[in-house]
Amino acid sequence: MSKNTLILGLQWGDEGKGKIVDALAENSEAVCRFQGGHNAGHTLKVDGEQKVLHLVPSGILHPSVHCVLGNGLVLSLPALQKEITELEESGINFTGRFYVSDDCALILPTHIAIDKVRDKSEGIGTTGRGIGPAYEDKVARRAIRFGDLQDLDKLQNRLEKLVDYHNKILVHLYDAEPIPFQDVMDELRNHQSLFQKFHSGTQDLLRSWVKENKKIIFEGAQGSMLDIDHGTYPYVTSSSTTAGGLSTGLGVGPKYLDTILGITKAYTTRVGEGPFATELFDANADQLAKVGHEFGATTGRPRRCGWLDLKALETIVFINSVTTLCITKLDVLDGFTEIQVCVDYDDEQNPIYKTLPGWKQETSGIRHFNDLPQAAQDYIIFIEGVLDCPVGIVSVGPSRDQTIYRA
Ligand code: GDP
Ligand code: IMO
Ligand code: MG
Repeated sequence: MSKNTLILGLQWGDEGKGKIVDALAENSEAVCRFQGGHNAGHTLKVDGEQKVLHLVPSGILHPSVHCVLGNGLVLSLPALQKEITELEESGINFTGRFYVSDDCALILPTHIAIDKVRDKSEGIGTTGRGIGPAYEDKVARRAIRFGDLQDLDKLQNRLEKLVDYHNKILVHLYDAEPIPFQDVMDELRNHQSLFQKFHSGTQDLLRSWVKENKKIIFEGAQGSMLDIDHGTYPYVTSSSTTAGGLSTGLGVGPKYLDTILGITKAYTTRVGEGPFATELFDANADQLAKVGHEFGATTGRPRRCGWLDLKALETIVFINSVTTLCITKLDVLDGFTEIQVCVDYDDEQNPIYKTLPGWKQETSGIRHFNDLPQAAQDYIIFIEGVLDCPVGIVSVGPSRDQTIYRA
């Protein structure tokens, strides 16, 4: 792997980013997140044991790897505390290797209440984690930030005003229960130790690491089609999930990137509402969902399933400047006689498919590209031809070692 690698999901999330970041982290010195929050659910499987991470970067299982939450995240203190506690109980050490930006905007209990009550009428199908409302306050320049935990007395006035504003929305617009100011203040006070232990000026830290030529992985959350600007608006998340988010969310400019690794499943899934051109409603959908265990890692919701959409991916590969592709969950297609791939849309925006032969052979034990069935190799080669981008990694199972690196 080259030096600094940005790893991004190219679809609607859940492409297997966590698995790939964990696998590549072995040869890196730091894994840094730059956007999103605990709406993410990244599943890692190592030595038969599964871990789902929401906020903590997917490098944490490697004891020597440093992990950073950059300024572009929105941070729920109880969610972070819960995740750290659980990981510490399983023997993972955070001291001296975990850093949280002072500039992260905080997710407050009122943000979560607004997100949940508002989604009932707006129907985006959010994760209900307060992500949208927290980013709204950041952009409106009234957010409480992680660094504000240093002096809670100084914060009191500003927080009172903000909670009052949130409660007006809850009570007057949504006829919902207000959240007492004291509850919000208590949540901050109860988690002040997170600030003392982990707060950091991560922009300066990243600059020094880049200057020292450390090998860094930048870990995207969600997927490019959920990007606030380039996704299927308004059915998107509220952050920049595409490559540009790295510069704003961590303070690392584009010239320090050596590889931009774009991850796509060998088919497509989506959780929540919104357009999905290649969505299936037949036995093929059931087979993808069943074999791929397509249930959300954060909310447990069933994921909608469909064929790979190369037309959409062409745009996404350009937006992100993807230099290398990674195809995950190839093994989920093992049982299909034929596989369809969207190569264009007709005048009514319906997908136009090309049908490719399946391979009807198990791939999960294969570790070398040339050992894959010919039809599986041809499927990968077809994808890289259309997208004009090399496929460097193929994943054939959830475990760290079920990964094929192509020379
Ligand atoms: P992320 O949000 O992009 O990190 O992806 P998730 O962890 O939410 O969802 C991916 C799911 O697929 C997880 O359950 C992974 O364990 C699993 N997974 C990842 N790669 C593969 C693969 O190549 N094959 C199979 N069968 N499962 C995979
Ligand atoms: P990872 O990192 C899949 C989706 C939600 C909803 C929309 C907005 O695991 O790939 P939000 O709560 O962010 O305001 O919800 O975005 N969504 C995800 N879908 N994977 C994720 O993260 C997601 N994070 C948000 O389902 O449609
Ligand atoms: Mg996920």
